[in-house]
Amino acid sequence: MKKGDGKRLEFQSIKGFKDILPGESIIWQELATEVRKKFSTFGFKEIKTPILERTELFSRGIGQETDIVSKEMYSFKDSKGRGLTLRPEATASVVRAYIQNRLYQAFPVQKLYNIGPMFRHERPQKGRFRQFHQIDAELFGDSGPKSDAEIILMAVSLLEDLPLGELALHVNSLGCPECRPAYKEMLKDYLRDKTDTLCVECTKRLDTNPLRILDCKIETCKEVVTDAPIIDRFLCRECNEHFHRLQEYLNGYGVPYILNPKLVRGLDYYNRTTFEIQTGLLGAQNAVAGGGRYDGLVKLLGGPDHAAIGFAIGMERIIALMEMNRKFEEKKPDLFIAALGDAADRASFVWAGKLRESGFWVELDYGLHGLKSQMKKAGRLQAGKVLIVGDEEMESGKGILRDMAVKNQIELDLENIVSVLEGILKNG
Ligand code: HAM
Repeated sequence: MKKGDGKRLEFQSIKGFKDILPGESIIWQELATEVRKKFSTFGFKEIKTPILERTELFSRGIGQETDIVSKEMYSFKDSKGRGLTLRPEATASVVRAYIQNRLYQAFPVQKLYNIGPMFRHERPQKGRFRQFHQIDAELFGDSGPKSDAEIILMAVSLLEDLPLGELALHVNSLGCPECRPAYKEMLKDYLRDKTDTLCVECTKRLDTNPLRILDCKIETCKEVVTDAPIIDRFLCRECNEHFHRLQEYLNGYGVPYILNPKLVRGLDYYNRTTFEIQTGLLGAQNAVAGGGRYDGLVKLLGGPDHAAIGFAIGMERIIALMEMNRKFEEKKPDLFIAALGDAADRASFVWAGKLRESGFWVELDYGLHGLKSQMKKAGRLQAGKVLIVGDEEMESGKGILRDMAVKNQIELDLENIVSVLEGILKNG
């Protein structure tokens, strides 16, 4: 990109990292407001964790063989040689905070959410960034299917309220450490003689993470797994009952879902329920939210043996859908005070301050420009009304209030101008 004078800009944002500009920030604020409102009705409280953590937290938590850990993390050594990483997701950090602060001691069930930036060194494309933002929710201390249903319902009902166009909820069960190994072996056996049709990545995954092959987006791999064995036949009795009960809760509330036995997700910590919410409107990056149960992670990271389930929503993707489905109006100033001359300039500074204390958006001219220039500025800002006060008006005690939409003007007494304006501005 070039500057107006044709010179190359010396500094530009890094590839995959983007600015959120003032015009967009209202949508971000609205989304955060909706999240806070919705999540509080489910009893979730906000937690804020650092963006930087020890690398090992993620490599152990998410899994060494996952794409995130093996190739997407922003990791570096600090001056003491300790490995640090910009968080690629929030779950491991929230689990660390849960353990470190013994949050389970206060309440056996903890419901936490976090909104903030995450970092993954992926190839940037539509809907995929290197710095992106997640709304992340985690529920600790319950292993039953009712918390699965509740967390799924919370994600679905937030997204439905926004609204974002048609979304599809996919659910699956990945079983547990008891029943999944047999399925993994069966899948490996099925895939072993088909390696020449698998992509390079999936050929490697056959030994390290065969379940991920089910989820590969490459056409040839998709074809290979069409007839692959699916996990539901391998689920043990407990996993089966858990999954059926979850479906009963979802059916009972009327939450539509698709049973997708190929939904495996890209992080190693999941067991039993996994889910993803997908859109057809964003091309290849179709997942707007993903999550699942991760009953072993708290223990794996050094905490008590507490079950957990959670999800994360990709905010950039949600915002792209919000923009497609609705027009967002930026707020405009309630009043511009066009002051002409020294006395009016000083008085208008006080009036503006008082009106702002009452919650109105008031703008002033920072210089001492003429009326024409100030009216032009008020027009550019799209101020609803303009109060015009010059030295003459200060002397006569009467100002002029111009309504910029209807284009009429009235005379106002300057004596109690703040309360008079409050009354007028309140009524729009
Ligand atoms: P994830 O599926 O890796 O799960 O990410 C969740 C969501 O973050 C995705 O569905 C997508 O909307 C968004 N997302 C991921 N990567 C990018 C990217 N590069 N650019 C834009 N958006 C992206 C997790 O992160 C898990 N921690 C979710 C979870 C919470 N599971 C249990 N608790």
